Amino acid sequence: MSAQQTSVPVVAIDGPGGSGKGTVAMRLAQDLGWHFLDSGALYRLVAVAAMDRGIAADDEAALGRLAEGLDVNFGVSGDGMLVLLDGNYITGRLRSEPVSAFSSRAAALPAVRAALVRRQRAFRKPPGLVADGRDMGSVIFPDARLKVFLTASPDARAARRYKQLKEKGENVNLSRLLEEIRKRDERDSSRAISPLKPAPDAHIIDSTEMSIDDVLIIVHGLFQGLSADD
Ligand code: DC
Repeated sequence: MSAQQTSVPVVAIDGPGGSGKGTVAMRLAQDLGWHFLDSGALYRLVAVAAMDRGIAADDEAALGRLAEGLDVNFGVSGDGMLVLLDGNYITGRLRSEPVSAFSSRAAALPAVRAALVRRQRAFRKPPGLVADGRDMGSVIFPDARLKVFLTASPDARAARRYKQLKEKGENVNLSRLLEEIRKRDERDSSRAISPLKPAPDAHIIDSTEMSIDDVLIIVHGLFQGLSADD
């Protein structure tokens, strides 16, 4: 990484799925006019590509090679992200439950994580980057200016996912979603490499009883507090 890149400020927003970190990170990036990295989308892209090619979720060597050579492009549409894999729009498939489960398994494999490190750091460009994921503050950008760990109870997160998927017309079951969220939390938190846990210097925010707007106000306050200290 060049010296210029390391001087580019990063805000890291980590936490479990359904904590609201993706929306908070995207809106903060828009507010600041900074770049945005949804690192989970990269793990999900590995999953989509592997499922299309019939690669198993425990075939570490094949998944590592796949992650290394992934042909992806990100764009922004009105209110969200557009994702292209091998030149095809696949945005709609990224958040489905089979892709969530596969990506969580693939993300536990060291070869997959190693293959995605450089790709994630390449998003660090002036004037700044807001990055969301599990290990943005702990592993990928340990020198981030501000680290936030956003969490919420499993019930609140399952209810939010249920609403999102329902709105997209998917046929979902709340208790099954809750069970999948618990399983994914367990796998993401107990894996040996880059487990889901707050960096020691992260600000922990529990959003169970909060709206996205409430969380954004807190994060903006933390960010402005930092700028005032400079
Ligand atoms: O944030 P998400 O739900 O889109 O992430 C999908 C999966 O990818 C999740 O199960 C954990 C994994 N992931 C990860 O291990 N590290 C990241 N920085 C981001 C996501």
